[in-house]
Amino acid sequence: MSTFLSQAAALEEELLAAVQAAADPDDLEAVRIRALGRKSELNGMLRSVASLPGDERRGAGQHLNAVKERLASALRERHAALEDAALESRLATERADITLPSRRQPPGRAHPISRTLDEMIAILGELGFRVAEGPHIEDDFHNFTALNMPPEHPARQDVDTFYLRAPDGGERKVLRTHTSPVQIRALRAGEPPIRIIAPGRTFRCDRDATHAPMFHQIEGLAIDRDLTMGHLKGTIATFVRAFFGRDDVEVRFRPSYFPFTEPSAEVDISYRRTERGLEIGAGGDWLEVMGCGMVHPRVLDNCGVDRTTWQGFAWGLGVERFAMLKYGIPDLRTFFESDVAWLRHYGFDMLARPNLLDGLDP
Ligand code: DAH
Repeated sequence: MSTFLSQAAALEEELLAAVQAAADPDDLEAVRIRALGRKSELNGMLRSVASLPGDERRGAGQHLNAVKERLASALRERHAALEDAALESRLATERADITLPSRRQPPGRAHPISRTLDEMIAILGELGFRVAEGPHIEDDFHNFTALNMPPEHPARQDVDTFYLRAPDGGERKVLRTHTSPVQIRALRAGEPPIRIIAPGRTFRCDRDATHAPMFHQIEGLAIDRDLTMGHLKGTIATFVRAFFGRDDVEVRFRPSYFPFTEPSAEVDISYRRTERGLEIGAGGDWLEVMGCGMVHPRVLDNCGVDRTTWQGFAWGLGVERFAMLKYGIPDLRTFFESDVAWLRHYGFDMLARPNLLDGLDP
């Protein structure tokens, strides 16, 4: 064997021994640099191959590269072995103390509006209504015209509508001012009978202690062959009694006007004042809580529903108002200030289910 090759063999033997002797990953890394690093003896030998005499040069490069491969694979194996050993020793010595108390994770709270919506949907669901939805950005037809408010209708001036900028040559859209446009979508979507509720956000350019620019409503719509004002009254009375958990809540219908209902009514519920505040239930005072009525035949016409066969009722109520009354929340603006201390006080344990039908006659 040439001196060059026996030198290479001695170097390989020495480096392989160093790999096996490395006691930990740091040691091994030092061996790796010594064996394969840019300034390693092996690399120096590789560089000197070019100056060997012709017959020695042939095969010398190849031989050195094979040495390099063998060293690299020995390093990999030793690395894996050291890691396994480290894991084994941790497993042998570390113990999880399962008797330690766990770290406390404060549970989240459900926002009173979410809770109120859930309660309302649960009650109305039991009464046979299913949830329907519509977009927050509405067109003029659904928010106004189809609800019997054509462009010049004075009722359009009653609400402060948020208008969106019209795209070039396109129609100016609005943020829906109420959930009533979902009635139109439900009426146009399929054949009656229909029983839907539309919970969701609504928008008006308005802000004080009882108004926010964004608030929530639940719309109700029932269409069938022979629904009457009596069914409307029964539905509303059942709903408010279940919601407030009291059988003694009285419901009063006062004549009113909405373009999309005829006749129209405003609903009042009974309450009394106590030292602790308002108490919903039997009492001599009345609170206005929603608008309702029999769906105007012109709304049915606008949706292609035959007014000689179908009729029904609708209502729209403000969710914040109901939540304020039930949970004693004095200022509507606080619902949307994202104050964590407020939420801790007025929010709800998400796992506790309210007993919704408790206050009802069986
Ligand atoms: N859309 C009305 C409002 O926002 C509320 C309303 C009144 C809805 C009467 C109805 C209804 O469906 O029949 O003020």
